[in-house]
Amino acid sequence: MKITVKSKNRDYDVIINNGVLDNIEFYLDITRNYIIVSDDNIPEYIINKFLTKLNIVKTIRFPEGETSKSLSLYSSIINSIINANITKDVVVLAIGGGVTGDLAGFIASTLYRGVDYIQVPTTLLAQIDSSIGGKVAVNSDKVKNAIGTIYPPKLVLVDPNVLSSLSKRHFNNGMAEMIKYSLISSKSMFCKLLKDDINSLLEDLIIESIKIKKQIVEEDEFDVGVRQTLNFGHTFGHAYEAYYEYKKYLHGEAVALGMLQFVSEKIKSDLIALLKKFSLPIEDQVKKEDLIKFIKNDKKAKMDSINIIKVKSIGEAYIEKIYNYETELLK
Ligand SMILES: NC(=O)c1ccc[n+]([C@@H]2O[C@H](COP(=O)([O-])OP(=O)(O)OC[C@H]3O[C@@H](n4cnc5c(N)ncnc54)[C@H](O)[C@@H]3O)[C@@H](O)[C@H]2O)c1
Repeated sequence: MKITVKSKNRDYDVIINNGVLDNIEFYLDITRNYIIVSDDNIPEYIINKFLTKLNIVKTIRFPEGETSKSLSLYSSIINSIINANITKDVVVLAIGGGVTGDLAGFIASTLYRGVDYIQVPTTLLAQIDSSIGGKVAVNSDKVKNAIGTIYPPKLVLVDPNVLSSLSKRHFNNGMAEMIKYSLISSKSMFCKLLKDDINSLLEDLIIESIKIKKQIVEEDEFDVGVRQTLNFGHTFGHAYEAYYEYKKYLHGEAVALGMLQFVSEKIKSDLIALLKKFSLPIEDQVKKEDLIKFIKNDKKAKMDSINIIKVKSIGEAYIEKIYNYETELLK
């Protein structure tokens, strides 16, 4: 299956196939030079698929985890590439989850004012979300994704087979984003997720999720309108992550808690059932008052207002601008 995403700078294909990584020579130019950027926890069997078939001029493995999305690691990696005399015609391969995609993509977007990069997402979250849409970033000392650009990849290769080695917890983390897509734009997908055994449907669900993201980012690539609906669950989600210093919750788990804050009462019980099905959290002890200061730090907050995404009926999200949000969000 091939989905083409249209973007202002360049259109790019997303190839989704079980086993696509066993046939990379059909999709990649084997005469070019490549750099692998990947965290040190990505299984070797995935990396080897590239090492054996491509001209790899450098392999960079960095410590896994969110803390690697930092300016200091960005700086040391980009300097190591430049100091190795690697030239602008190189292609960066981002092989891994969202952390790898965001960091490697940000490196590619700034190295020599931009080199080609290819997203090879290996977590469910990265396959359905972070590898599509071109947002790449590192975190500032205090604010997640505060330093970044929108820089579309040249190609995205999605192989659902590699999810077999992903831990259950990280798989469910990606399911939180899939649940989000269903809540903001597909009632039929929400019903499928709630009622069916998803194992046999996984490839189709990945394709459906990518189509939802494609539609939204094509309509609003630069995040000034409808793309903000993808932030559903993220206002409180980012605050939960930051409150617990990124130690208690994975991103999707925090988003699960965040989504529960902004759905109408009539869909809350179905959402709770769905979150439980994928072992996602449905409650947390921290008081809303303690989360507000993290919401103020969120890069989406303006001086006097914040846009909140709400879901009244399954499949329909809307944006609400809230003033005095420090008091309004406590209600
Ligand atoms: N750019 C965007 O549009 C966007 C969207 C959503 C999230 N994000 C970002 O994504 C990041 C989270 O991404 P993530 O959840 O993929 O985390 P991650 O990249 O840290 O990956 C999770 C863990 O899974 C391991 N892993 C990856 N693939 C594997 C595989 N196939 N088998 C075994 N282990 C594997 C990794 O080594 C890591 O330990 C956050 O930084 C978030 O801000 C970005």
